[in-house]
Amino acid sequence: MSFNLPPLPYANDALEPHISSETLEFHHTKHHNGYISKLNGLIDGTDLAEKSLEDIVKTSSGGIFNNAAQAFNHDFYWKSLSPNGGGLPVGAINDAIIASFGSFEEFQAKFNDCAVNNFASSWTWLVKNADGSLNVINTANAGTPITEEGITPLLTIDLWEHAYYIDYRNVRGEYLNGFWALVNWEFANENLAK
Ligand SMILES: [Fe+2]
Repeated sequence: MSFNLPPLPYANDALEPHISSETLEFHHTKHHNGYISKLNGLIDGTDLAEKSLEDIVKTSSGGIFNNAAQAFNHDFYWKSLSPNGGGLPVGAINDAIIASFGSFEEFQAKFNDCAVNNFASSWTWLVKNADGSLNVINTANAGTPITEEGITPLLTIDLWEHAYYIDYRNVRGEYLNGFWALVNWEFANENLAK
């Protein structure tokens, strides 16, 4: 068994003007696909070839972990964005954000601060703790919250420069504005209910 590149949940140009078709197409078919191709090469003929992607992420290290985790993180990132996203959170995720951060504005400020100061190639996540409270965490390189027991990811933003350099050059703060215009609260609610 080998892994296939999951299709994007929308057209390449669906996130414009915030994320260009050029960025999305290249990010998906070169970067995301590259991680999956490398992972397939590394697990071919091993016991890992029969495992799920999440199982591989949780039990591997080194190059296998890096490529499997990047494959998982990218799929999660595409789903964290939507052409119909943006605006204020709705439903249970809104209640949980207010309970944990005080207000949407305080949550957004914390998320932006974490993301802007997350050094180099990295990810920022909204996660749910085992007790139901929410938190914002940073991971570096291919790091992913699913390796931590009791932590459930709700949303993520890819902070590798390949995610925004074509559209925003090195200005990560402007890319964050694009993220907020696209953020998929429906996906966050689905994850919160898990
Ligand atoms: Fe990426």
